[in-house]
Amino acid sequence: MSYMHTTPNTSPDARPASDDSRSPLPSDDSIRDRIESSLESSVKGLDVAPELDRAVRYALLNGGKRIRPMIAARACLALGGTLDAAMPGACAVECVHAFSLVHDDLPALDDDDVRRGRPTVHRAFGESLAILAGDALQTLSIEVTARAGESSGRTAAVVAEATREMIVGQVLDTDGGFPAEVVEPIDRLRLIHRLKTGALIKASCRVGALAAGAPMDRLDRFGDAIGLMFQVVDDVLDETRTVEELGKTPGKDREAGKLTFPSLIGLEASQREIERLEHEAMDDLAALDDRATPLRELVHHLARRTH
Ligand code: IPE
Ligand code: IPE
Ligand code: MG
Ligand code: MG
Ligand code: MG
Repeated sequence: MSYMHTTPNTSPDARPASDDSRSPLPSDDSIRDRIESSLESSVKGLDVAPELDRAVRYALLNGGKRIRPMIAARACLALGGTLDAAMPGACAVECVHAFSLVHDDLPALDDDDVRRGRPTVHRAFGESLAILAGDALQTLSIEVTARAGESSGRTAAVVAEATREMIVGQVLDTDGGFPAEVVEPIDRLRLIHRLKTGALIKASCRVGALAAGAPMDRLDRFGDAIGLMFQVVDDVLDETRTVEELGKTPGKDREAGKLTFPSLIGLEASQREIERLEHEAMDDLAALDDRATPLRELVHHLARRTH
């Protein structure tokens, strides 16, 4: 093993967007199976030290709701593309997400011991390997985008931009450093959430649109709305649910004095904000036909999730 000249066996080659966009839509279960097998094959060829390989697999392959790749797949299908075409972008975004969670849980950030119902990566493997596993997942995400056929360059650019935005959001969430014109707490909070969480969710919509051969920004309003909504729900769950329900420690935000929707505007107003964002997202899908129905159902589910 050289660790030097590896080309990972990433997810299967993307095929071009479908010209038979009226073919039956796959079920959520079959999409989920496909996401799992594509993620599995994306790490299969990684030529890295065995302990790093184990940490990467632990972070990427064990659990997780797979919301972002599901959004990418459903966005692509809603716009007339195929599941095959959607997989590289979908898996790339999930690799970045997994990296973001590993680093988010580190003692220097949120200092969490539990994730997806198990010890966090630094608890299981030590801090140095957790940091390095996050690094490896980030590079893997870019390698995976290389399989996105003719949209691989634009897919990589979308994933890289969203990754940088996520990192900036984590900086604001952890250390501050807001732009001078963003002064009001609610504006600061929206900015944090749009960056640390919204950016990757919007990128999921964008890679799905690219895979379908649609304009990249076709679902941007939708992506903005569900991206912010997803983190408002996460803030609410942090206040209202148990470790058994969440698979991660609740109450961490309040304990750390974090700026969150419930801490700033209360639980009831946070719930109204979730509903407002859900409607905004649905509005942006209004012009799409019934191939967008599962995407609408996904949004409905995300607004009401309990973990
Ligand atoms: C958790 O994301 C981190 C946030 C951005 C709120 P998810 O709730 O999607 O986490 P997994 O992937 O299902 O564990
Ligand atoms: C999630 O923020 C943002 C990223 C991981 C980039 P949180 O810190 O609220 O996520 P959880 O609650 O630990 O999953
Ligand atoms: Mg955090
Ligand atoms: Mg956290
Ligand atoms: Mg949280």
